[in-house]
Amino acid sequence: MAQQEQERRLVTFRVKRYNPEGGERKRYTQEYKLEVMKGQSVLDCLNDIRWKQDGSLTFRRSCKSGICGSCAMTINGVNRLACETQVFALGASTITIEPLRGFTVIKDLAVDIDPMVEKIHAVRPYLITKSPPPSDAERLQSPEERARLDGLYECILCGSCTSSCPSFWADENYLGPHAFLKAYRFIADSRDEAPGEHFDALDDKHGLWRCHTIFNCVEACPKSLNPTKAIEALRRELVKEKIG
Ligand code: F3S
Ligand code: FES
Repeated sequence: MAQQEQERRLVTFRVKRYNPEGGERKRYTQEYKLEVMKGQSVLDCLNDIRWKQDGSLTFRRSCKSGICGSCAMTINGVNRLACETQVFALGASTITIEPLRGFTVIKDLAVDIDPMVEKIHAVRPYLITKSPPPSDAERLQSPEERARLDGLYECILCGSCTSSCPSFWADENYLGPHAFLKAYRFIADSRDEAPGEHFDALDDKHGLWRCHTIFNCVEACPKSLNPTKAIEALRRELVKEKIG
């Protein structure tokens, strides 16, 4: 019994809310109290609140497995995936939840990710080849060439990195670390034959040179990736491309 009591805790969730149709009360903070069991994630709790207390609370989620990236939000000041964040691990009896900073809020915790997706399209996020495909096989890579993509392909496009970047806060057109990481994933691929075509959007006043190596993106990534390292590598590649 004592152990059962230890495994439950009353937690207050302070949620930043936004209702575009709310008239004078568009933006406000709402508190919900919930008895949380050990092992529950922040997403479990938001679902509980939505299903049992307030059906109007809006947030995105899909996979509940840290794969789709839709549940990224700011939890106690840090960008995290709600489905991968255990409430007890936060060690707090009050948890503040806000939408990702820098993005336009659609409602409550759901932000507009269309501009983020457009920036990915701008770097042409696919392999560009010029030579005809081999007649009898796929385009092959050695294990070493494949290993160069480790730390690049795992990005789930949650937007946590870009949302934490002061260069993005200052310039909404800044491509952002998520787009740089995506670009380098293809430029570093031995099968890609046209790095220059990925560079068009990167070599721009809203592109690579606007990064001030602040490293917030590295701290924010819930998959422990390193966008800053990709940015440095891209700058080297771009200089090589420019001077032949
Ligand atoms: Fe922003 Fe990361 Fe550069 S936080 S300024 S993209 S190092
Ligand atoms: Fe898919 Fe959290 S719901 S990453």
